[in-house]
Amino acid sequence: MTAKAEIHIPINSDSDIVTARQQGRALAQEMGFNGSDLTVISTAISEIARNIVEHAKSGEIILNAVNSPGTVNSPGKIGLVVIARDKGPGIADIALAMQDGYSTGKGLGVGLPGSRRLMDEFEITSAPGIGTTVTMKKWKR
Ligand SMILES: Nc1ncnc2c1ncn2[C@@H]1O[C@H](COP(=O)(O)OP(=O)(O)O)[C@@H](O)[C@H]1O
Ligand SMILES: [Mg+2]
Repeated sequence: MTAKAEIHIPINSDSDIVTARQQGRALAQEMGFNGSDLTVISTAISEIARNIVEHAKSGEIILNAVNSPGTVNSPGKIGLVVIARDKGPGIADIALAMQDGYSTGKGLGVGLPGSRRLMDEFEITSAPGIGTTVTMKKWKR
């Protein structure tokens, strides 16, 4: 697959959540992900983008395709990477925020843990007063 430029989507409002979801789905489709993975990827993007709007007000989502090089014993993989970052209030206790049902707002508290379950890789870094970065990957099967 030819290298593609990263897609940057500014996130400030509900309509930007829809844009991020659609762009993520379109990229995943172009990369050849199957139908259920398209749903999984767009759901995770939607939740993480919603967290930016609800908890940090603004930020951005970056979408990218990556190739992990294979070895002599294993084939290379193609993956979709989603990075969500903001300079919002940050999260004091990440372990707590990752628990099912924990919400400081009016949400269901399943956005972070649900996205972690949906994607193959999930990392979150956050610091109070600095902001939050979530990096998620889905590998093509
Ligand atoms: N980008 C963010 N900036 C600051 N806090 C966040 C962010 N994303 C998540 N959080 C915190 O983590 C909690 C859990 O997030 P989540 O599982 O998506 O549940 P919900 O959004 O329904 O509250 C949120 O209630 C909020 O306190
Ligand atoms: Mg949420």
